[in-house]
Amino acid sequence: MPRDMIATGSDACTTFETERLLLRPRTLADTNDCLLMDREPEVTRYVSGPWSDASAHREFIENRTSSPWLPGMGYWTIMLRQEPAVFVGWVLLIPVDAVGPEIEIGWRLRQRFWGQGLATEAARPVLTHAFDVLKLPEVIAEIDPDNLGSLRVAEKIGLKQRGAVRHSGKLAMRYSLMISEAATALGLSSA
Ligand SMILES: CC(C)(COP(=O)(O)OP(=O)(O)OC[C@H]1O[C@@H](n2cnc3c(N)ncnc32)[C@H](O)[C@@H]1OP(=O)(O)O)[C@@H](O)C(=O)NCCC(=O)NCCS
Repeated sequence: MPRDMIATGSDACTTFETERLLLRPRTLADTNDCLLMDREPEVTRYVSGPWSDASAHREFIENRTSSPWLPGMGYWTIMLRQEPAVFVGWVLLIPVDAVGPEIEIGWRLRQRFWGQGLATEAARPVLTHAFDVLKLPEVIAEIDPDNLGSLRVAEKIGLKQRGAVRHSGKLAMRYSLMISEAATALGLSSA
């Protein structure tokens, strides 16, 4: 893993440090911040979920947080290094739709943090971890074709476009990176 992306801890509690960010495993104490973020209309504009049903929404977040993901996977809460109490958003690395078999990477930030390169900065060490530590054969992302910011994050972290798919009945652009491509795409010494 490059020196500017430090991973610490065992598989179950891997944390990441980048130039501006700290990423730590999401806990139930992050639920209210996740709810507040999802209530910003632009945040869920391109993402399906139970956003309009308050109790289903809370249950969805809590279930995703407490799921027994495979070691080294799950959700990471993003915080600012300068202000670690501030919730910026999250990055995930989980089986697609929590079912699989493919493993997906995803990202979501509070709107006031958009446009500063923070999603890219947060996603990069998680993708590196997926190949460098977990040795996953492939990581995918499926993104609404109108979600230009998210498509750009996928490209900036080195994911390659593999065409379009139908996801929950909606068209999505499919991106992925294979472990054989990771060394070049992420600048790893070996993957
Ligand atoms: C997608 C999201 C995480 C991006 O966060 P971010 O911190 O703004 O992302 P970054 O700043 O790292 O990169 C965004 C890139 O997209 C570009 N971009 C953003 N909006 C754009 C638009 N409407 N048209 C073209 N490019 C756009 C930015 O210019 C930047 O590219 P650049 O560095 O080449 O200039 C954020 O918008 C978000 O949380 N959205 C809601 C949740 C979501 O949709 N998640 C993804 C589901 S697949």
